[in-house]
Amino acid sequence: MNIIVVKDYKELSERACSIIENQIEMRAASVLGLATGSTPLGTYQELIQGYEEGRTDYSRVSTFNLDEYIGLSPDHPQSYRYFMNQKLFSHINISDENTYIPDGKAEDLQKECIRYERLVEEIGPPDLQLLGIGENGHIGFNEPGTSFESETHIVQLTDSTREANARFFSSMEDVPTQAVTMGIRSILKSRRILLLASGERKATAIKQFIESERTEQFPASSLKDHQDMTLIVDQAAYQKAIEKET
Ligand code: F6R
Repeated sequence: MNIIVVKDYKELSERACSIIENQIEMRAASVLGLATGSTPLGTYQELIQGYEEGRTDYSRVSTFNLDEYIGLSPDHPQSYRYFMNQKLFSHINISDENTYIPDGKAEDLQKECIRYERLVEEIGPPDLQLLGIGENGHIGFNEPGTSFESETHIVQLTDSTREANARFFSSMEDVPTQAVTMGIRSILKSRRILLLASGERKATAIKQFIESERTEQFPASSLKDHQDMTLIVDQAAYQKAIEKET
């Protein structure tokens, strides 16, 4: 595992952006795995700027998002489809039909999970998967206890994850209780993985990530066995991991 420690969020976003841009430069028809949440927002802004400056062409790029809330339609402002359209897709020249996100309103959600996993296999697996990490070590919506053999599946969101995400909703009751997420096994299929962590809020999770053995109680630890895994972390998120060394 590669660990890149950067000064702050701005530098983290720039580094992540340049890794993604290099990937697209190497292969114009790259498949990218993408995440939502606060962490990748700066990276997406950098990618948009790069596009506007003519650095990157997304016309042949495909993307797979990790997860989607169950029950929210694509035009619901808190759906992950809406988030991706607003924060990235509508600002670059990617074709709509090349952007894949699980359908949280599918009539048969079990079938939707199987369909999505097949798509990941057929079109992907991603050349590069971008990930954030939850304070409890989750990746995607794979909460502690999720099998490392899991593929795309339906999850019951834990109270801590719902609370962490409540800031985007007007009240706690509005936060969905379930989601569709790519599983740990699905994520590990990616050729390269880029995990981002920023801010003090993530310091405990990063310390645990660096120190822990592979355990299903801490989903991000599954990444430690991946053959091409890079963690970009800013000083605030890295501080507790260093405290131990000194
Ligand atoms: C989002 C996702 C989640 C987030 C994680 C961190 O698609 O899969 O695992 O990456 O919850 O969220 P932020 O970045 O908001 O701290």
